[in-house]
Amino acid sequence: MDQRAILAPRRALITAAAAGAVLGLAGCGKNDAKGEDVSATEDLMREHGVLRRILVVYRETAAFVRANFSGVDGRQIWRAADLFRRFGQAYHEQQLEEAHIFPGALKAGGEAAALVPVLIAQHARGRQITGYIQAKTAGGAIAGADAGALAEALESFARMYEPHAAYEDTIVFQAWRASLSKQQLAEAAEQFEDIEKTAFHGDGFDLAVREIEDIEKALRVHGLARYTAPAPGAADAGVLPTPQTEEGAD
Ligand SMILES: [Fe+2]
Ligand SMILES: [Fe+2]
Repeated sequence: MDQRAILAPRRALITAAAAGAVLGLAGCGKNDAKGEDVSATEDLMREHGVLRRILVVYRETAAFVRANFSGVDGRQIWRAADLFRRFGQAYHEQQLEEAHIFPGALKAGGEAAALVPVLIAQHARGRQITGYIQAKTAGGAIAGADAGALAEALESFARMYEPHAAYEDTIVFQAWRASLSKQQLAEAAEQFEDIEKTAFHGDGFDLAVREIEDIEKALRVHGLARYTAPAPGAADAGVLPTPQTEEGAD
């Protein structure tokens, strides 16, 4: 069934609400598992959460690749890069940010507008690096001659994307939101939901969270507790486990 046909009655409801009848609905178009509203900016920022988890996988895996490239399953790195390509680049960056957020930020002017050309250049560099990572990991085994450059690509991608997402969260998304009325924000949230459902044939965020969890488990970098920092001066400070010695990360 056409998703737009399913969504049409809800969109009409939201439009009526945004017209002034129910102020509590303004700015919201998506529901979480409890039926609570998810605003357009929360939606963008929780997508960054998924992408940050891919960056964590990149950083951890880069250390594994440097320590023992032959023990790393390149297929899982390929999967992480492919999730970033589909969810981060083709959807979040191109269909939401470049199509909707950045034009609004440019119109708003000021600091947010000045960041837009840099953000677009970083999207392009990100796609280039993703292509490289996928090319070097598609076969599963990582070639010894590629190990150093692959580790560098994984780390440089993470180094670029961490501030990229942080500047978007704190400056660009805020400027975009401030430039719109409550009704326009409600309509944007509905539009973003339509784009997501069309792109992923369902809730893209939920699907992406499940996918990154699966990749984290396969690489044995799953579970928040493993990232708790050692006490300053502790003997094991700075020692990273490798895939061969890591036991039951989750
Ligand atoms: Fe971006
Ligand atoms: Fe972003």
